[in-house]
Amino acid sequence: MTEPKDHVVVNVAWPYANGPRHIGHVAGFGVPSDVFARYQRMRGANVLMVSGTDEHGTPLLVQADKEGVHVRDLADRYNRQIVEDLAGLGLSYDLFTRTATRNHYSVVQELFKGLYNNGYMLKETTQGAISPSTGRTLPDRYIEGTCPICGATDARGDQCDNCGNQLDPVDLINPVSKINGETPQFIETEHFLLDLPAVKDALEAWLKTREDWRPNVLKFSLNLLGDMRPRTMTRDIDWGIPIPVEGWQDNNAKKLYVWFDAVVGYLSASIEWAYRTGNPDAWKDFWQNPNARHYYFMGKDNITFHSQIWPAELLGYAGKGSKGGESGVFGELDLPTEVVSSEYLTMSGSKFSSSKGVVIYVKDFLKEFGPDPLRYFIAVAGPENNDTDFTWDEFVRRINNELANGWGNLVNRTVSMAHKNFGEVPVPAALEPADEKILKLAEDTFATAGEALSHSRFKQAMTAIMHVVGEANAYIAEMEPWKLAKDETQRERLATVLWTALQVVSDCNVMLTPFLPFTAQKVHETLGRTGVWAAAPEVREVTDDQPVELVGVGLPPEGHPYPVITGDYTAQQAVWKRVDVKPGTVLEKPKPLIAKLDPELGETGPEWAPVQKQD
Ligand code: MF3
Ligand code: ZN
Repeated sequence: MTEPKDHVVVNVAWPYANGPRHIGHVAGFGVPSDVFARYQRMRGANVLMVSGTDEHGTPLLVQADKEGVHVRDLADRYNRQIVEDLAGLGLSYDLFTRTATRNHYSVVQELFKGLYNNGYMLKETTQGAISPSTGRTLPDRYIEGTCPICGATDARGDQCDNCGNQLDPVDLINPVSKINGETPQFIETEHFLLDLPAVKDALEAWLKTREDWRPNVLKFSLNLLGDMRPRTMTRDIDWGIPIPVEGWQDNNAKKLYVWFDAVVGYLSASIEWAYRTGNPDAWKDFWQNPNARHYYFMGKDNITFHSQIWPAELLGYAGKGSKGGESGVFGELDLPTEVVSSEYLTMSGSKFSSSKGVVIYVKDFLKEFGPDPLRYFIAVAGPENNDTDFTWDEFVRRINNELANGWGNLVNRTVSMAHKNFGEVPVPAALEPADEKILKLAEDTFATAGEALSHSRFKQAMTAIMHVVGEANAYIAEMEPWKLAKDETQRERLATVLWTALQVVSDCNVMLTPFLPFTAQKVHETLGRTGVWAAAPEVREVTDDQPVELVGVGLPPEGHPYPVITGDYTAQQAVWKRVDVKPGTVLEKPKPLIAKLDPELGETGPEWAPVQKQD
C-alpha cells in the first residue's frame, strides 16, 4: 500500500508592487521558500506554493506620488516586473498572482464579514493623524517618531522595524510628518479594530504547541502575546479594498488596512489556483485539511503579521475566540504550521534601500550571472539566522572556489574521463573499500540533508552536500584514474572508479536540485539522461475572469489582463533519492558547467552596482 500523499502549502510573503526586487528581498522570502518547495515535491508531497504582488497600502501611494503616475498603473507595471524577476530566479510557484483581482477582493471581504459577524471587529472612535497645514490625513508610514516599546528613534506610524511591533501613529513619542516635518494633529475618526484580546487564549494555546520554529521567531512571537490590544484594520485612505459594511462600503475615504488584505492572499491565491487548474474545490485539500502543513516564508519585519494577525483572523473567522461564533463559507481553515523567517541581507553594512542607492537589482544580477549563482550564494551565505552582509568579494570567492572548482570541476572531470575512455557509463567490477565508503557517504547524506531541509536548515543541508562533493574530489585525486587509463591491465579498475564517481555525481546532483535547479537539469543531461529533471516555472498571461460567487463590493473591473507564474511540476522527474547510473548510457564530452568569475569583479563590483570605495 502506498501512503496517501501529504499536503504541504508553501506560503510566500507577497512583495509590494512598488519597485523591482533587489537581492535583499529574494534572500528573505524568495530563494528559501523555493528550495523548501522543491525539496518537498522531490520527497513526494503534494505541494501548493502561492504568492503574488501586494498592491495596496501607502508603500504604493508613496511611489506613485514620486513617479507622478496613477497608483493603479504603477501596480500594473511593477507587478509585471516582479513576475519577471521571480520567474527568472526559477521560483516554482504553483500560482503567483496579485491582490488586484476580483477573487482576492471578494475573499478578503468574506473574511472581514465573518470576523464582523462573530463580533471580532470592534467599531471605535480612534485618533487619526492629519497634516495641520493641508487638513489631509497622513498615512501611517509617513509619520516617524520614537517607539514607545523599545525607544528606537526611527519608528514609523505603522511599525517599529527595530523591535518589530505594530504601532498606531498616536503611539509614537514626538511624531513628525516625513512629508514636511510638521507635527501631525490628531482628530477623531471611526475605525474597525480586530479584537486581539478576544482571541488571545486561543492564539496562546496554538503558539504553545509550536516548538520547533527557529528560536528567534518563536521567542519574538511568544513575546507578542504580552501586548494584545485591539488593532485598527481600516484606514483613512482611498486606495485599498472597500470595507464590506453598510454605510462604509461606499465611503471612498476609508478602506481595509493593507495588512488585513495581504495575508488573506494565501487563501485567495489558493482558490484562484484551484480555479485555474480546472478543479475549483482543489484548494480545500490544502486548507480544510488538519493534516496539511502550512509553512510561511518571509523577512523578519513580517513576523508579527504571520504569527499574530493572520492566525487571529483565522481563529476569529472560525469562531474560536472568547466570543464564540461560527465559521463562514470557507469553513474551518488551517493555522500555520511554521513561520519561517529570515534576518536581513545587508550590503556593506547598510540595509538594502532603493532610495539610498544601496541596491542590487535581481534583474541586473540575472542578466549577468544567471539564477543559480545567486541561489547558491543565498543558500550558503544568506541571512538564515543572522543579518548577513553581501560583498562582491565573497560572492566571487564562493562561486569560483566552491561552485566552479568544487562542484563544476567534479562533474566535468568525471564525465570527461568516462567519455574519453569508454564513451558511456562503464560497467563496474568488484568494489573496493574506498569505493564503498564514498558511495555510502553519498547515500547517507540523503537522510541528513533531507532532515535539515525539512526544517528549513538550508545552510546545514548545503554543508552536508558540499562535504560529499569535497570527498568525491578527494576520492578521484587518490584513485588517480588518469594513471589507471594509461595501463591496459587496469581497465576494470578504471571502469569501477569512474562508475563510482559518476554515481556520486548523480547523487550530489539530486541533492543540489532544490538549490540549483537549472544547473541540475544540465548535469542530468550531461549524465546522458533525457527529459525534464527539474522544472522551471513559466509566465502565463491570464485575464481576471474567475467567476466570483461571493457577494463582493467595489470589485475591480472584469477581464483585466495580468501575468501569473505557474508551472507543471508534476511532469518533472526529480526525486529525493539515489537514481542509479546505468552502464551503457552514452556520454558526450561535457561543456563547462559553471562559468568562473573574473577575480577583479570582487574588488570593483559590476558597472551597475560598483563597490563604493570608503575613504
Ligand atoms: N508586502 C509586504 C512586505 O513587503 C509583505 C506582505 S506578506 C503578506 O513587507 F502575506 F501579507 F502578503
Ligand atoms: Zn520598537
